[in-house]
Amino acid sequence: MPDYRRRAAREQMGVRVDFNGIIAAAAGSAGMTREEVDALAPRTSEITHSLRGRRDAGELPFYDLPAAKDALAKIKALAAAVRADADTLVVLGIGGSALGTKTLIDALGSPSPRVVVADNIDPWSFGALLDGLDLTRTAFNVVSKSGETAETVAQFLIVRDLLLRQLGAVDYAKRVVITTDAEHGALRQVVHDEGFRDLVIPAGVGGRFAVLTAVGLFPAAFAGVRVDDLLAGAAWMDTRCQAAELWKNPGHLLGTLLYLADTRHKQNVLVLMPYSDRLRWFTAWCAQLWAESLGKAVTLEGSPAHVGQTPVTAVGATDQHSLLQLFVDGPADKVICMLRVEDHGRELPVPSAYADLEPLGYLGGTGVGALLNAEQRATELALLERQRPVITLTLPQLNAFTLGQLFYLFEVAVVFAGGLYRINPFDQPGVEASKRLTYGQVGRKGFENQRAEVEALLARKQPDYIL
Ligand code: PA5
Repeated sequence: MPDYRRRAAREQMGVRVDFNGIIAAAAGSAGMTREEVDALAPRTSEITHSLRGRRDAGELPFYDLPAAKDALAKIKALAAAVRADADTLVVLGIGGSALGTKTLIDALGSPSPRVVVADNIDPWSFGALLDGLDLTRTAFNVVSKSGETAETVAQFLIVRDLLLRQLGAVDYAKRVVITTDAEHGALRQVVHDEGFRDLVIPAGVGGRFAVLTAVGLFPAAFAGVRVDDLLAGAAWMDTRCQAAELWKNPGHLLGTLLYLADTRHKQNVLVLMPYSDRLRWFTAWCAQLWAESLGKAVTLEGSPAHVGQTPVTAVGATDQHSLLQLFVDGPADKVICMLRVEDHGRELPVPSAYADLEPLGYLGGTGVGALLNAEQRATELALLERQRPVITLTLPQLNAFTLGQLFYLFEVAVVFAGGLYRINPFDQPGVEASKRLTYGQVGRKGFENQRAEVEALLARKQPDYIL
């Protein structure tokens, strides 16, 4: 296909980001003025320049994942090989090692071949999942960047034992693929020692930025998702997010407006509201990205920060009958980010009936997809009428190409916002703290101090306040 036709096809499938509802002209007093945004220009230019430099120096490898074609070839080949003798893939992972995959499977997966993401260790649900598996037709993908997250390691040990007992010491290893760091961590050691098939999470790409690595791509390829399109979508968004001018750069503008909303307009809650059930897990992925990247105690210079905008997930139209009342009439502390899918890929027509009964009859001849989209537009306008700021993202369709754009857009936006907050968006010391206290409690060697810390903290609880 000639370049101009490819470009036109991409533009047709481009995700549109409508910022009108957060700019004062449309949003009224809750919105921000163009001048207010422009006043940040020295800082936004400096961040753009610094991120470009760090990217070129190879310090921010997540930016270049859409172009990682060699890694993709290996991932696709392994997915095809695993699929040859398994029709279910169970992913064992948590947080950034699970949420992107859940998003991909939820949005684009199909019942067969099936991918199930086991991202919790609730004995009830994990036990029920294992009870229902045909182990002779199931493969497991253990995903952990650190190679030592307690939840994932516990799941792996349970599954390994099951497989060993059922399939024997030779065949059991064929059922497991391990995705982890190339060099570090206990799981890498296990790969070396036991010869499991493996995939690599590139150095410098943290969990919540890893959906476009083997972490998300391998299960997606197993499920038959068009992973090339996913990366092409991300690459397309990358092109758009390289625009030098802030007002032309959707990722940088998104990060900037949300930063301003939080820090200058007291809109410290970010509501992520898709009008598509298939994007429910996208909002969970996005919530993790926003919360874990921006919720930080100290600035880059080490001064106290305690910043971050709290993400909340809601689903249209369901939550119009639940949370929306709070969004419209409650505290004016929210920005609502709506996701609209123009063509749902399927329509369910509403049959005509009860022509003489208007509250029922008017729906005849419409489709529920059209109704859902009308509700999205109506809710957006109702929010604007009440001076509640809204950003609307429109996907022409929900497919691998548009989902790739969404992932990349929010990754770029959060890193840019991190620059404005002057924090490190790539670490997660708060998460690490809880991991260490868990190790202390369950008696991991080397974490005796954490055990003592847990006991001291528990001793502070007063029986009087436990009813
Ligand atoms: O985004 C992150 O870094 C975290 O959510 C991690 O993905 C999560 O804690 C799991 O870590 P790991 O992949 O090392 O098992």
